[in-house]
This record gives sequence, C-alpha cells and structure tokens, in this order.
Amino acid sequence: MTPALSQANGAILAKKDDINPRWYPSYHLAPQAGWMNDPNGLSWFDGYYHAFYQHYPHAPVWGPMHWGHARSRDMVNWEHLPIVLAPEGAEDKDGCYSGSAVVDGDQLALIYTGHKFHGQPCDDNLFQVQCLATSRDGVSFQREGMVLDTPLGVHHFRDPKVWREGEQWFMVVGARVDDIGEVQLYRSDDLRQWEYAGVIGRADADMGYMWECPDFFPLGDQRVLMFSPQGMAAKGYANRNLFQSGYMTGQWQIGGEFNVEQPFQEMDHGHDFYAPQSFETPDGRRIVIGWLAMWESPMPEQADGWAGMLSLPRELSLSAQGKLRMNPVKELESLRGEPRPWSVSELKDQAVTVETHAEAMEVCLEWDLSQSRAETFGLRLGKGASIHVDSQSQRLVLERDYPEFGLCGYRSVPLPAGDILSLRIFIDRSSIEVFVNAGEYSLSSRIYPAMDDRQLTLFSQHGQALVHQAQAWVLAD
Ligand code: FRU
Repeated sequence: MTPALSQANGAILAKKDDINPRWYPSYHLAPQAGWMNDPNGLSWFDGYYHAFYQHYPHAPVWGPMHWGHARSRDMVNWEHLPIVLAPEGAEDKDGCYSGSAVVDGDQLALIYTGHKFHGQPCDDNLFQVQCLATSRDGVSFQREGMVLDTPLGVHHFRDPKVWREGEQWFMVVGARVDDIGEVQLYRSDDLRQWEYAGVIGRADADMGYMWECPDFFPLGDQRVLMFSPQGMAAKGYANRNLFQSGYMTGQWQIGGEFNVEQPFQEMDHGHDFYAPQSFETPDGRRIVIGWLAMWESPMPEQADGWAGMLSLPRELSLSAQGKLRMNPVKELESLRGEPRPWSVSELKDQAVTVETHAEAMEVCLEWDLSQSRAETFGLRLGKGASIHVDSQSQRLVLERDYPEFGLCGYRSVPLPAGDILSLRIFIDRSSIEVFVNAGEYSLSSRIYPAMDDRQLTLFSQHGQALVHQAQAWVLAD
C-alpha cells in the first residue's frame, strides 16, 4: 500500500468509531467516516458487487478526492474495504475524480478522471485526463497512469463511463466545450489506447454549461443517455435542485449518431439525487445508484463526522411510453421483519399515529383517490417531513421542514392517473425515498429528524381520505 493510501485508511480507522450514529444510515451505503459523493465503478466481479465512491477520508467535507470501496453479495449488505485510490500520481495529484469499472478478462479495471492543476489552481490551469488502474483480486489496485489526455482547448473533461459492445470498448466522457455541456464518445481495443468517435449529445440553449457523469446504455429497444447537467434553470416544478440528473432515450448503433426520441426528463424528483451511475447484474438487470445529497446543500451530519450517502440500488425498466421507471431491487425484501399492517381506513380531518418510531422502515401505502376528497392528506414523519397529496394542485408532495438546518421546502410530481395511488416508501435515519405507482416517479430527499421525533402519522385535512391498503416493515440493520 502506498504512503498516501495508508494515511487515508489510517484516518478512517482512527475516526470511524467516533461517528455519532443518530443520522447514520442503517441499510444504505455511507462512508465509515469523512466525505462521500458520487458512486463510482459500480460493477460485478468475482462473485461480489462492487461500489466505489468519491471520498475524502480526512474530514467530512469535499477535499482532494480518493476512491472509497465497499463490496456486497446482494447490493444490500455492504462490507467496507480499504480505499483504493489516493491523489498521488503525476496525473491525478489534485484528485481521483469519478469514473467506472469494467471486467477485462481476470481483472477489474477502473477508469477514472485524473484532476490536476498545472501551476496555481484556476480554471485555465485545470486539466482533466482519464486514467486506468487494474486489479486481480478486486481489493488492491495497480495504477497504470493516463490513458486519455484532455482534448485541446478543453479543461473540464471528466467522469468516463466504459462498457463493452460488439468487439470493442467504448467510453463516454462529460465535457464543457465553450461553456456548452457535451458527451463525447471514444473507443478502444485494449482500454489503453483510445480514439475519438464523435459527440453523443450536446446541450442546446437551456441545457447547461457542463454535463457530468454521462452513462450510455441499452434498455429494452431503447438507448438511454443518462447524465447530470450543471446550469439548467428551474422552470415551474422542474429542475428545482442546484444541479439536475436526468436522461434522454433514443436509438443508437455503433458508428452512428444518437437519435433522441424522448427529450430530457429528470431521474428523480426529490431534493437529493445526483450523479447516478448504472451497471448490469449477472442476471441482466440494469441497476442505478445515485448520490443521495446535493452540492451546496446543508449536510447536518457533518457535525457527526461523516457526510453523504448513496441511494438504494434501483432497477430500471421502460414504460410503454418510453419513460424510465425505477424500483428498488428485489434483494431489499430480505431486510423485512414481520409485516405490520396499519388498521386505518378512513380519515376525516384527523391525524392517526401508526408507528411510534420509524428509523429503518419500509412502508407500502395505497390511497384510494376516487374516495379521497380532502384538500391535503398523507403520511407525516415526526414534525419535519411528509409525503402528501395536494388536491388543489393535483400533485404528490414531499416536504421537509428543518429550519434549524436551513432545509425547508417541497418537491412534487403530478398525481398519476388512476384511482389508486400506490407509494413504496423507504425511511432510513436521514433519508426518505418514495417510489410512486411501481416506479413511475421517485422522490428522494435527506431528512434530519431528532431521535424522539420519528413517529409516523396518517392525516387528512379539510375532508376525507381513504386508505386502500397500508403496511410497514422494520428493516434489519
Ligand atoms: C459530480 C462531480 C463529478 C466529479 C466529482 C468530483 O458530482 O462533480 O463531475 O468527477 O463530482 O468529486
């Protein structure tokens, strides 16, 4: 292990037992100590799922990026492993930025962005290049240095996502070209020599100055371009977060253009979902995991010695209209304890407490919209969070209200058509993820309830609401 890596791993060992657990996730992946942002290198290798992540081990703030590492047999129970990359090479001296992993014969190969300044740190001196590191055991990695230099005149050039298709390796990279976001395509025979193969997507007027974390994969009869644009303006209910994450679908063949059929849609509609990355399971499912946080958003857990967490793994599928659906992977059901049916059906200007303490819990809640005339009705978690229907705007709202942390406000989606509104809600110590009508929409946000403020309450205001079906499960640690 290099000195920089032993120092980084030493910092985690020294700090991990001092974490205040009040908001530390029970069943989501988070750093043992220090900072986490994007998921990186999601892959399946040698009998394990691997999740790497952007990591700063020395403090719970963003700093020179390392790659943290965990592995799992089921995408649910994760085992932390030593940090695999530290910013210590000539090409990545200022950070090992986001990237991906592929299995190349008997090796796991990481392709990531080396972030470096030539001289004083400023945009003109910034260079981002793509680097390679390989491993036979999936635990310790050999650095192989730069494999793709920055294109002439470009400074922001990052987040390589590599895959194999036909007889070749392909890579998409996010770029900022004259302040226009772009996704560039490269190809290679050996992961070491890369050749430019054109542009897969480019922002038009209001689509942002930089596209981060591109991913380009087949799903059913469609091709999906998923990316995280910076610089899109909010519009009505849409694009409310500092940066977005979303996708377009269309058609693509090797050597051809990407013909977009479905324009940009947001992946998730909560406050905290960014930089998602996908990978394929051995049984052919396309899974997406995102960072459950947002740049520049307050992170109260920093006071506890850690910051940032990953979303649940979500399986992607396509609706008949060509829209993405995201549903939590079926493996999560293994966490369920005994079912806890809620025997509430009709609510009229009422609030009924159904659970006294929800720390790690899954809830399946169905409302009969045809029999619900209340102005507002839904489920509240403590005093600070709720997921409710607003009948006046005909929207499903996820609201949080933690003024002490500067985290207030709502996100929302249109009420889907049909009489039954079905919600699958995953609550962890500082997160809530809501999956609407079998994945038609999802809303994911960080929440910060006090330990004694975690009761779940069903409520209706100004009228009646009818629960069609409701039950909960405590989820195992
Ligand atoms: C996205 C991102 C990436 C970059 C990484 C740096 O959240 O900005 O573009 O590689 O984070 O930590």
